[in-house]
Amino acid sequence: MNDETKTQINAKYERKLMHGERFWPDSIYKDVIVALGLFLLLVLLATFVGVHDSPKADPSDSSYIPRPEWYFMFLFKFLALYGQIPLLGKVEWIATVLIPGIAIGILTLLPFIDRSPHRYYAKRALPLAIMTIMVLGMVLLTMLADIPTVATDGSTLIGLLQSIAGLVVPGLAYIAFVGMAYLLKENAVRAIIWTTGIASALMIGFTAAAMLLYQPPAVEVVEVPTGLADQISAGQDLYSIHCVECHGDDGKVEEISGVEGLEGKMISIINSNDVLYTVNDASMAEIIAYGRPDSGMNPFGKAYNPEGLSRSEIDYIVTFMRYSWDDRFEAPYIPPLYPELADGEVPTYSVHIQPIVKRYCISCHRPGKDSNNYFMDSYANILTSGDNAEMNVVAGDMNSYLIETIQHQAILDESGSEIIGVMPPTRQLKQDIIDVFILWVMNGMPE
Ligand code: HEC
Ligand code: HEC
Repeated sequence: MNDETKTQINAKYERKLMHGERFWPDSIYKDVIVALGLFLLLVLLATFVGVHDSPKADPSDSSYIPRPEWYFMFLFKFLALYGQIPLLGKVEWIATVLIPGIAIGILTLLPFIDRSPHRYYAKRALPLAIMTIMVLGMVLLTMLADIPTVATDGSTLIGLLQSIAGLVVPGLAYIAFVGMAYLLKENAVRAIIWTTGIASALMIGFTAAAMLLYQPPAVEVVEVPTGLADQISAGQDLYSIHCVECHGDDGKVEEISGVEGLEGKMISIINSNDVLYTVNDASMAEIIAYGRPDSGMNPFGKAYNPEGLSRSEIDYIVTFMRYSWDDRFEAPYIPPLYPELADGEVPTYSVHIQPIVKRYCISCHRPGKDSNNYFMDSYANILTSGDNAEMNVVAGDMNSYLIETIQHQAILDESGSEIIGVMPPTRQLKQDIIDVFILWVMNGMPE
């Protein structure tokens, strides 16, 4: 660039400076452009990324621990760290009201306190230093938010590291800033910059140490069924466990059988248009949640039964019932219960038997249910539990109780009276399912 253009540019710059920039429309115009850009970004994010699915909020779930949104996490963490301070930590309002109040107050008053017209950073060292430490602290506290202050093994080292990063270092830095600004006056700039640098490095270092030391506990991933097909099969699984014993796997039971206390009770067929057309989704969910306590159907909702089902789980059951039974709804493709057997293939527990048992038997054959103590909830239990354990499944024996009862032959004692009824009591299984059971037992019950 030659000297002439340089002077030209400088002159142009001077003119601009003299002229200044108007708030309306110049500044506003820029703001509008940026706001529009952000708006478009949000629309794109919402369209193509979306938010994570999580279970529906359940007002009756008293074990839920609320947590603030992520942009408040730094305050949340600050409160947790402050709570660790001996004695003072008990006085909560200092951390919840006083300190945030002072911080917001200072930010509001800053333009009035600091009236220096300078823009060069060295002339504005103190405000810049205060902001740097504050913003850095907010970022680091947010990053630390998910790390508990007391580790699972009870060690408090992680909490100590976090307190140093989030409370001690910034606190000392602020005290140092004020001291320097008063004592060193004009010469404070270098000292303030150095202090800011060292404090930032320490804060980042201690945060990193806490994050590295922390070992997150292995959490069970709760998968939330998102697609319709997933919700239907989740609903079907829940229905199999909780409802089959009375209503049957197809909802067609009219007379309960095999359930203690309700033997022979007549109930409405919940798979009939009479029920499906007259009860809407909300009332259906309500019936499941509240049950029909007077008639013998206990409540399933968490609000009435602490071990019960969540709001979402009840909705999945309703979805399952609609799409499987209600002829006004067209079901999406749902994969078969178990993979079809090839010629000569031997069924195994985990691939074939488990899903069948889960759908047709587990509702009655699990701990807490009265079915001769025969629990079908695991491979080992199917082979060894039950009052007639030695007879239920015998490798290679067509007279195993399981095989006889599912073929609708009741087990009789010598005098000819029935000791075990047909299984499942309410209706006969389809022949191909019976065949899978027979093949499995005849081939020695492979796992
Ligand atoms: C212990 C047996 C039992 C279990 C388990 C059970 N129910 Fe019921 N259910 C009943 C009885 C008894 C009634 C009331 C009699 C009637 O309405 O015909 C009933 C009624 C209903 C009704 C109302 C039918 C109507 O229009 O009156 C619905 C819907 C229903 N049950 C769905 C379910 C669902 C879904 C489950 C599983 C979450 C379930 N039930 C579990 C016994 C049971
Ligand atoms: C509606 C509840 C119910 C369902 C569903 C059910 N059972 Fe049963 N089961 C019982 C009851 C109750 C007994 C106890 C004997 C009796 O009353 O018949 C029993 C007993 C048995 C026994 C004898 C256990 C022993 O040690 O005496 C076998 C085997 C059995 N069931 C197999 C099955 C199989 C396999 C399925 C699924 C295909 C199934 N049951 C589904 C209620 C049920």
